[in-house]
Amino acid sequence: MIKEITLQELDPAKFISEKAEEIKKVVGDGIAINALSGGVDSSTVTMLGHKALGQQLKTVFIENGLMRQGESVNVADLFKKLGVIVEVVDARQEFFDALRNITDPEEKREAITQTFYRNVFGRIVRESGAKFLLQGTILTDVDETVAGIKRQHNVFEQLGIDPQDAFGYRILEPLVQLRKDGVRIVGSALGLPVELFERIPFPGPALSARVIGEVTPERIETVRKATVIVENALKNTGAFQYMAILHEDRVTGMRDGKRDFGQQIEIRCWDSVDARIATPTRLSFDTLEQMSQEIIRKVPGVVSVTYNIAPKPPSTIEAI
Ligand code: XMP
Repeated sequence: MIKEITLQELDPAKFISEKAEEIKKVVGDGIAINALSGGVDSSTVTMLGHKALGQQLKTVFIENGLMRQGESVNVADLFKKLGVIVEVVDARQEFFDALRNITDPEEKREAITQTFYRNVFGRIVRESGAKFLLQGTILTDVDETVAGIKRQHNVFEQLGIDPQDAFGYRILEPLVQLRKDGVRIVGSALGLPVELFERIPFPGPALSARVIGEVTPERIETVRKATVIVENALKNTGAFQYMAILHEDRVTGMRDGKRDFGQQIEIRCWDSVDARIATPTRLSFDTLEQMSQEIIRKVPGVVSVTYNIAPKPPSTIEAI
């Protein structure tokens, strides 16, 4: 049973110094490694880990081909400014190979988990000689995985999986007593710039959580282009999270006077405090229409744009 640290109980300076001490003690004079995705949780754990371990922590960004536009370069640049060197590892082919022909959501998550932890990261860890993996798992990830709602790609021990046996390294999860709001406060106290720790959440399986049906480089590119448009249009709404989703079904449309059996993009925009429950934001029709027009103009093959108006539950925030 993990003991939650609530917002009322959280003293960020004390939390940081205690966790840094713990990490130092466990790692000793060994080497730890962590994978940075640019999200709130992994960015916070990267800063915490560097505070605790300095040069003994190696940080990598695994380019899985499923990230948002410009992400690897932007994240590496930002951390360089904060004094943290991030090595970008190109693993696009391995991920797309692993995802070929898979349409079931849980199988997709499993393929990403295995490719990430066993193949790509396992190899990097072995080559680096690191015995410890620092990870930004938070309490909500554990809750939802244990409840069987959605398997988070970074939760193992709570499911009875021993990472030492399964992958050959030990996992440290210093943020596991916090929820997202607590992580933001800790990230801020660690010196992360506002634009980073206030970023909207982004899932571990990245854009593959937003492609219904098979994940291919082309289909990821479609949802990536739509994501740029949706994120840009909604960034000042104050919403908790917003996204574009590519549907599997095609629908008849018309372009240049000809029938075009095209693709559908669904937009979601959520009001929520901690992602456990969420309601669709009441966006103006003008905003919706502008996004739709831009998507149709700039994203090849899309002939239909919809907005999700069902709350979580029974919906979930991501589509898979
Ligand atoms: P759902 O879709 O379960 O999402 O309502 C709740 C929150 O969690 C994020 N999410 C993930 N985060 N790994 C993550 O780190 C994952 O596999 C994952 N799946 C969903 C989602 O974006 C939302 O903020």
